[in-house]
Amino acid sequence: MEMAQTFENMKLIIEYLKRSRNMDLSKYRSGNLEKKVLERISIRGCTDLAGYISLLEVDPQEADSLAESLLIGHSSFFRDPLTFEYLGSQVLTDMALSRGEKRNGFLNIWSCGCYTGEEPYSVALLVKELQDKGILKLKINIFGTDINREALEHARWGCYSSRSLENSRFGLVKRYFRHDGERYCLKEDIKGMVHFSEHDLLSPDSRGPSGIVFSSFDIILCRNVLLYMETEIRKRLFERLYENLVTGGYLILGNAETLPGSFAGRMMEISEPCRIYYKAY
Ligand SMILES: C[S@@+](CC[C@H](N)C(=O)[O-])C[C@H]1O[C@@H](n2cnc3c(N)ncnc32)[C@H](O)[C@@H]1O
Repeated sequence: MEMAQTFENMKLIIEYLKRSRNMDLSKYRSGNLEKKVLERISIRGCTDLAGYISLLEVDPQEADSLAESLLIGHSSFFRDPLTFEYLGSQVLTDMALSRGEKRNGFLNIWSCGCYTGEEPYSVALLVKELQDKGILKLKINIFGTDINREALEHARWGCYSSRSLENSRFGLVKRYFRHDGERYCLKEDIKGMVHFSEHDLLSPDSRGPSGIVFSSFDIILCRNVLLYMETEIRKRLFERLYENLVTGGYLILGNAETLPGSFAGRMMEISEPCRIYYKAY
């Protein structure tokens, strides 16, 4: 197929997803989108992009599968274990000691692009452990947001395969999960610590999860989400996340991600090889 034709057909797919489910993929890296669409074409046995577009028009379930595959849903508890170890033993512990009075005893934590909830629940487990040990006495608000509504439903359900717990400590699993057949389900007190809501990072009129004041997060985890977006958009979103952080707050990225050079000085990387940045000003 001609390159120009492929490009036009990809545009048609992006327009279709925008029209049918208000999903704006024009800001995501085109190479990645093409790869995912080609995978779906092969799975569904279509001969070309034009045929696949016709299939999308008559099969809304295929549009669901395509949307899921384009958004790259994957997560696990304590993904990048060193990062979570650092978060529990340094970041949260330091905040417990230094923040109490300044922030009226509150800490706000936001996991954006949380998929099925493993990331914000991992934070909740660390928080709970520190609370149970009497180290953390602050009131903690943890928000998990994503653009993917089905993923958020799974997150609220809170049950996972043993595979997604591979990086978890045995003691934590034993204490805070219920073993239910093939699944491990979080106990209600952990589930109750995370507020999930739908939120599109690309939406121009929304700066953070609803119910929270702009610019008031102490910790933001945005891991393996912006990776798939165009460079300019990524820079703009990083600026927005920066604005959402309090001075002295932390931004945590995925291991394969780095902040652009324009943040030098303002955001300091504190934890080689983890991607944890401290907002200096
Ligand atoms: C690979 S998962 C990352 C999950 C988790 N943060 C982790 O690192 O384990 C990427 C998530 O980003 C979400 N996502 C993609 N674009 C988004 C957007 N514009 N706004 C909010 N979430 C988005 C996807 O739906 C998906 O759940």
